[in-house]
Amino acid sequence: MREIRRNALTATAIAASEDAVETARRHLVQPWPFAGSVGAEARALIGEGDGIYITDGDGKRLIDGPAGMWCVNVGHRRKELAEVMYDQAMALSYNTPWYTMNAPSAELAERIAGHAPGDLSHVFFTTGGSSAVETALRFMQFYNNVRGRPEKKLILSRGGAYHGSTYLSASLNGRPRDRDWMDGADELIVKLSSPNPFRRPAGMSVGDFADFLVDEFAETVARIGAGRIGAFVGEPVQASGGVVIAPDGYLRRIREICRQNDILYVSDEVVTAFGRLGHVFASDDVFGIEPDMITFAKGVTSGYFPLGGVVISARLMEELRRSNHPDAMFGHGLTYTSHPVGCAVALRNLDLLEGGVLEHARQVAPYFQAKLKTLEELPLVGEVRGAGLMACVECVADRESNDPLLIDKDVGKRIDAHCHELGLLVRPLINMCVMSPPLVISTEQIDDMVAILREGISRTMEDLRREGVWRG
Ligand SMILES: Cc1ncc(COP(=O)(O)O)c(C=O)c1O
Repeated sequence: MREIRRNALTATAIAASEDAVETARRHLVQPWPFAGSVGAEARALIGEGDGIYITDGDGKRLIDGPAGMWCVNVGHRRKELAEVMYDQAMALSYNTPWYTMNAPSAELAERIAGHAPGDLSHVFFTTGGSSAVETALRFMQFYNNVRGRPEKKLILSRGGAYHGSTYLSASLNGRPRDRDWMDGADELIVKLSSPNPFRRPAGMSVGDFADFLVDEFAETVARIGAGRIGAFVGEPVQASGGVVIAPDGYLRRIREICRQNDILYVSDEVVTAFGRLGHVFASDDVFGIEPDMITFAKGVTSGYFPLGGVVISARLMEELRRSNHPDAMFGHGLTYTSHPVGCAVALRNLDLLEGGVLEHARQVAPYFQAKLKTLEELPLVGEVRGAGLMACVECVADRESNDPLLIDKDVGKRIDAHCHELGLLVRPLINMCVMSPPLVISTEQIDDMVAILREGISRTMEDLRREGVWRG
């Protein structure tokens, strides 16, 4: 393992970092807090980023394992992205999208449409992923109201899903704990099983599991009635649910049932779009499906500016234009819809992706997956799975039962703590560690990342054994 360099942070800079953490503890409400520490929490301060690295408040350089939140796709400190934001802000920092428009948003919509599958040709820009999912669902409601089908509004979602933190998008979420203490629009949502083959019923083959999932979908549509179901929302790879890759062909079969039943298929590509799987969009290029809408965010600006959006099928647009209600209004828009600075940086980011980053991601992905797979040698690791440049290391109490090690709910956090010491930021998820580094990562840097992760897991195994909570 290579030595982790410490950046030469001055004593003044370190003191300023400590001040910031203390100030946050007094005044900042951080996301996903527990009641016992809400508004009083000290989190690791990140001071700088460069390429695949970030530097914490103590000056320790870390590999940015999750690329922020699956978003810093072209890496940190890209001068060309900083410059384009400066230039656009100096030219036009904002215009109201209510009754004016700007050129970067029109150009970006055209370029995104050029990458989108099938007849997906129109883009509505939002502020991020939750607002993108919210927009897609409100569009479905509007579409069915205009068509005279006001009862066709239910939304199908799955266990293990994560679609956002606004009311309707969060109502779709199906990960453990997300909804334990939160309300939701439950009357609008129908939940289906998680498509996670690793957690399929004991004794069932993966092929039979795919049939089970498809049958469940078809039976649910038949039981409730297609006339009441407006949309299915699904991530091509369930990202925050632990990089869950459904059995082969399952998504195509679900797509077909949706088509036959006039149910809009919303492919939530907030994580998978803009390079994570080596393509601008993964729905068709990787999974062979042409959805009715695709939601995106994160990688569209590589996290340099909050931006998201929905790509919508030309067929839906056409149907609305030809409806009997030309005056019906889609009463939906955000102050920052089509933000000129966000769209300008997204255009430059897309240049970088098209200009080599996508190609690089496709080239290093097999190495990334193979290297991480070697961690299955460790007895604490039940499975390493992934696609493109996203992967999950799932820890289990033992490989016979694949018990998710809930005896120690924070095993992911323990691994993260050791890795932080060693120079790697990990995304801990209960008993899992999710890895999704910037797409520009090199094979040598992948070696470093996996070596640190291996050592972090080994140290965690020693801790668990010493504490007597695990005997692997
Ligand atoms: C698949 C998916 N959809 C939607 C969202 C919500 O995006 P945002 O946090 O930008 O609102 C996320 C966030 O991680 C996500 O992973």
